[in-house]
Amino acid sequence: MPYAELHLHLEGTLEPELAFQLAERNRVTLPWRDADDLRSRYDYGCLQDFLDIYYANMEVLRTAEDFADLTNAYLARAARAGVVRAEVFLDLQAHLARGIPAETVLGGVSEALRASEATHGVSSGLIITFLRHLPADDAEHAYDQALATGVELLGIGLCSSEVGFPAAPFAPLWERARADGLHTVAHAGEEGDASYVWDALRHLKVERIDHGIRAMEDPTLVAHLRDHRIPLTVCPLSNVRLKAVPDLAAHPLPAMLDAGLMVTVNSDDPAYFGGYLDDNIAAVRRQFDLTDAQLATLAANSFEASFLPPAEKARLLAEISSGPTAGRLGGDINGSAGSSRDSSPV
Ligand code: HPA
Ligand code: ZN
Repeated sequence: MPYAELHLHLEGTLEPELAFQLAERNRVTLPWRDADDLRSRYDYGCLQDFLDIYYANMEVLRTAEDFADLTNAYLARAARAGVVRAEVFLDLQAHLARGIPAETVLGGVSEALRASEATHGVSSGLIITFLRHLPADDAEHAYDQALATGVELLGIGLCSSEVGFPAAPFAPLWERARADGLHTVAHAGEEGDASYVWDALRHLKVERIDHGIRAMEDPTLVAHLRDHRIPLTVCPLSNVRLKAVPDLAAHPLPAMLDAGLMVTVNSDDPAYFGGYLDDNIAAVRRQFDLTDAQLATLAANSFEASFLPPAEKARLLAEISSGPTAGRLGGDINGSAGSSRDSSPV
């Protein structure tokens, strides 16, 4: 089944073996003995435990070639998972803070993304994610540097530590990016409660919410997300690994589907969370006995929620509806054109 991956941090695709190869190539010393030692630390108590390792491993990414290699490794694996469209996140700000110029970071990533259709059969777009634990001024400065490279951007997003770091200070930058013609998204409702999702909608006016699982705690919010068809890019294996849910059986994905929400399944940081997109789909299929129709709905939602041009969306949706599950799909494929999701007052 073809699929769009909409919630994927490129730095989160850094497999331990590649991390050590790049460390050697760049003469960087990682604080782990070897790939197995690094892997043995992937037992996180919370989001911050993961982020500490994730930021530490970024040290090995130094040249444009490193960023291109990382991106190509993800695209090759994603293609095998059935991904034909990838809207990927990049933590530019974290690399700037390490003294790596924007041209190096974006040069390497964009070189791989530009060739992704021809090389991997995956169309792609780049979303620069800003770090909510840092001041909004710092994000503005990183955005200026991204624009100065001339590299084409699809959108901006917000990620990193959530609880205690409000979205409101980022509102002017989100406004500015929209005026520049970019799409906007934000992580919310991963470790933070439903109020964080409301804040991302009210202050940042985002088109998609990344994660958003804790929205399920607020029936008014669920109704709002459903009525305005605001997509939620859910990452089941990530939620289990980061203890956002006690275990996969307790994951709200089936409840979200039942509530009529526009949910998609994604891999987030697959090298760190035990699986790529196909692994996430297989896990939820097995855990929840999802029907072919539900799986087709997830695939259709991924294209519907993507930032692809309407004609391309329609072509991919038609491909799903003419596939083996045609005629057994839920209502999400049809009748969703002209979504009101970014024009609604909150
Ligand atoms: N949550 C928040 N920020 C992140 C994540 C995540 O899962 N991965 C990379 N940055
Ligand atoms: Zn994420």
